[in-house]
Amino acid sequence: MTENTSKKLTKQEADEIRQGEKEYREALAFVKDAIAPSMMKIDATKLQIGDTYIRTFFTYAYPDFLEGNWLGPLINWDVKFDMSMFIYPIESAYIMKYLRKRLTELHSERSINMDKGLINDPALDAQVQDVEELRSSLTRGQERYFHFSIYISIYADSEEQVKKLSNTLDTLLSGRNILTKQAFLRSEQGFIATGPFARDEVGVYRNISTKGLSTTFPFTSNSLSQDDGILYGINTHNNSLIIFDRFRTENANMVVFAKSGGGKSFAVKLEILRSLMLGTDVIVLDPENEYKTLVDTVGGTYVNINLNSNERINPFDLPRALKDTETKSGDLLRGAVINLLGLMNLMLGKCTPSEVSILEKAIVTTYSLKGITMTDDDITGKEVPVMKELYSVLETMDGAKGICERLEKYVTGIFSGVFSEPTNINLTEGLVVFSVRDLDEILRPIAMYMMLGYVWNITRSSLRKRVLVIDEAWNLMQYEDCAKFIFGLVKRARKYGLGVTTITQDVEDFMGSPQGKAIVTNSSIQLLLKQSPASIDVLQNVFKLTEQEKYILLNSSVGQGLFFAGTEHVGIQVLASYFEEQVITTNPNAGK
Ligand SMILES: Nc1ncnc2c1ncn2[C@@H]1O[C@H](COP(=O)(O)OP(=O)(O)OP(=O)(O)O)[C@@H](O)[C@H]1O
Ligand SMILES: [Mg+2]
Repeated sequence: MTENTSKKLTKQEADEIRQGEKEYREALAFVKDAIAPSMMKIDATKLQIGDTYIRTFFTYAYPDFLEGNWLGPLINWDVKFDMSMFIYPIESAYIMKYLRKRLTELHSERSINMDKGLINDPALDAQVQDVEELRSSLTRGQERYFHFSIYISIYADSEEQVKKLSNTLDTLLSGRNILTKQAFLRSEQGFIATGPFARDEVGVYRNISTKGLSTTFPFTSNSLSQDDGILYGINTHNNSLIIFDRFRTENANMVVFAKSGGGKSFAVKLEILRSLMLGTDVIVLDPENEYKTLVDTVGGTYVNINLNSNERINPFDLPRALKDTETKSGDLLRGAVINLLGLMNLMLGKCTPSEVSILEKAIVTTYSLKGITMTDDDITGKEVPVMKELYSVLETMDGAKGICERLEKYVTGIFSGVFSEPTNINLTEGLVVFSVRDLDEILRPIAMYMMLGYVWNITRSSLRKRVLVIDEAWNLMQYEDCAKFIFGLVKRARKYGLGVTTITQDVEDFMGSPQGKAIVTNSSIQLLLKQSPASIDVLQNVFKLTEQEKYILLNSSVGQGLFFAGTEHVGIQVLASYFEEQVITTNPNAGK
């Protein structure tokens, strides 16, 4: 308030302002009271706030040679602690003066030794050499010097736990020649130094050069951070990044389990977006038309198979044999016959053994009419048959009447369009999504089976890094023939550079089927997000979850859970950028 205006205030106004200020100060005091802990006790070795005991350590010695990630064990230490680092740049002139003094001392020590007739002390020589090297790199400006402090505060519920944690910390670090001491008689200052105040009240530092300092970068965890790969999420144990290349594991397969709305599709879509950027092709079987926006945004092919669309897949297609795989003559056809028998099971309902044998003969004959036989399966320049031709062959066979009756609707009847035409789609690079939502429910598994067959043919025809995503896999897995096909894919995928992702919410059913279990064992990566209490026990059993991991899965929020890669288990938070979220969310209000 300026002189001028204050003169104009009446006494009453001035009193009112004073009163207002007083009330404001009192209210502030109240806020401080409200957020302050009920008790705080400071003693020589620790601080106690409420029921929490806090002890702070400082580091006072580092090894001579610091390797990258030497703070790794600390970062991966799975308890609550705070760590702060203070880095003070020092004038080179100052440190040069110090080094000169040190060098003189070392030289005089050496000459004293020589005068006494003692032989050279190698430790002394090494020190002289170190100091000289340092002086030269400082003079050239290759290095700078810093004062460097590390403080670590541990938090415990009891005095015993304080002791236990102190010992663990000591073991963790002394194993690497990093020596720590507790901030004796300076508990409070230590606590402040590790708080977010940028206040170093302890002031214990060591000199460190730029090279040494660069190795202290703490946010790399060796557990699941690879040099290349894509970001799967944040490691919730230590806030490091989970960067991973699924093609570098034993097999590139992945399973994703979570209850409905747990964020399965979200996590996988994010992986798709990021994989596409690295040039991986992605094929999705999408039962819910959920991946349409993704295709619209990033480009790609959206194949919607239904009775009214023009897109067709011919189940009689054969892969172009890869020259570098060890396929024997007849393998192509044999594989095709087995797959077609599986398809027939789905189309006709379970076939009896005699029907199966009739069908098998008929399929082989149908192919041979086009010149494709067990001894000559070079398909260059040859046409593959369609369903109609199989039907004609069956009509001429004894005992095939029942089969013909059941097959008719797919050949000339209501469903003929979808199943009895040559393939007219072309699998492009990048993203391809197959949707069957607009298809009648009974036809969906059949169409999905054909799509799988088509993808499998393509995979074997040209080697590329590919990911096949089967969303809501349980829909398919409940049909034994589909389950077998998917398992076959999962098992043999690696050879052809394919990684299969299976997504499911029906954990119990999935695990109940023998193929489901086998798929899990054949998947190097497992992503478990939020689970319902009903499925947790099955999961605990299959994945050998600890009680804590079980707790995490039951209580996590959307997009949180566990990420297993080989033997590594880490907590994960799947995190998308604003723009990624716009593209992949199924929540119509997201970002609005
Ligand atoms: N990591 C995440 N960050 C932000 N939002 C998320 C995340 N994961 C999921 N969501 C949101 O939560 C909702 C449900 O996610 P999603 O569709 O992936 O679940 P789901 O497990 O596939 O469910 P369903 O079994 O029903 O298919 C969506 O609106 C999605 O946008
Ligand atoms: Mg989903």
